[in-house]
Amino acid sequence: RREYNITLLPGDGIGPEVISVAKKVLTLAGSQQGIEFQFKEMPVGGAALDLVGVPLPDETLSVAKHSHAVLLGAIGGYKWDNNEKHLKPETGLLQLRAGLGVFANLRPATVLPQLVDSSTLKKEVAEGVDLMVVRELTGGIYFGHPRGFSTNENGEEIGFNTEVYATYEIDRIARIAFETARKRRGKLCSVDKANVLEASMLWRKRVTMMASDYPDVELTHMYVDNAAMQLIRDPKQFDTIVTNNIFGDILSDEASMLTGSIGMLPSASLGESGPGLFEPIHGSAPDIAGQDKANPLATVLSVAMLLRYGLHEENAARIIESAVLETLNKGFRTGDIFSAGKKDLKLEILMSRVRVKTIQEPASS
Ligand code: NAD
Ligand code: IPM
Ligand code: MN
Repeated sequence: RREYNITLLPGDGIGPEVISVAKKVLTLAGSQQGIEFQFKEMPVGGAALDLVGVPLPDETLSVAKHSHAVLLGAIGGYKWDNNEKHLKPETGLLQLRAGLGVFANLRPATVLPQLVDSSTLKKEVAEGVDLMVVRELTGGIYFGHPRGFSTNENGEEIGFNTEVYATYEIDRIARIAFETARKRRGKLCSVDKANVLEASMLWRKRVTMMASDYPDVELTHMYVDNAAMQLIRDPKQFDTIVTNNIFGDILSDEASMLTGSIGMLPSASLGESGPGLFEPIHGSAPDIAGQDKANPLATVLSVAMLLRYGLHEENAARIIESAVLETLNKGFRTGDIFSAGKKDLKLEILMSRVRVKTIQEPASS
């Protein structure tokens, strides 16, 4: 019998809705594999601001650090949008990622056969897409100094940020990316803006240097503007993409739409040691929060990544992934991936029941 401590950070908006489904699924998949979970639920983001006045309470970070894995829903909302920087929900999430040292963010985008028709792209373009964005998560313009507000020589207000990468930050994310590509189809595309930005010039140099350690991986480089275009033109050319924090943020949202919906994309954030952080790539979706419309699959698939990358419980991860496929096979859909002839689904009632059933009684395929 194995036991793990899991920190649950539901956060804001649809965060608590998707976390409650994911928690049920995790518990059930675990029970099939003789795994027991102890959950500790802690506040983060707007929820923490309302409760204790900061977006990442010390106790939340400390509980997270001492657990085996951290599962986050989403943070943010209109209510806190005009807060000062240090009192924004988003700042809490960045502090959490930095505090856990999770510099490597894996964001897979896979077009499932069941959802080809949900993609906005032509079937022949979307069909079979299976790529992995390896996003650097604790550096770059999100964290670089100097940053802030000031005034220029005309007395005009200015806001400024700095894109900065040190060699060790590039090397460690590049290493993860090469290892990831090696285990996939052996193709790595490094995305940068080395025609303009010094930080990208260093990025390209270090990634190129590392290629000699990986003769089995085919390395290419692409400017980010072209990459944004190529992702829509011919997404199947990509296997593994490695890129900086901000480009990875943008390209992974773009990649999500190949799969049908941002509500489908999970992520795993890993560091050198300590617990991983697992979260859907979407936000708190304030436009649909509280309406029982959120697609929980991005979070459910994040739980599968938690089992695989965080706890090395591959069998339990697979149980969850097949349950998701089975649920889709049965025709159940949330509004975001709804297409003609499919049943729209009320998340708490219908979907969790179907999924729970699927997990308890694996499909006889
Ligand atoms: P968003 O991802 O929250 O929503 C974008 C659009 O996608 C919305 O129309 C939303 O309804 C839809 N959507 C997102 N997730 C969905 C799901 N699971 N099922 C169905 N539809 C879904 O991005 P946004 O609107 O730009 O940001 C809203 C808030 O979330 C902001 O405060 C932002 O800072 C925050 N945010 C947080 C995270 C995070 O917690 N990791 C990520 C992105 C944005
Ligand atoms: C994400 C989000 C976050 C990011 C925000 C909310 C800080 O967009 O997880 O993709 O930019 O990393
Ligand atoms: Mn994002």
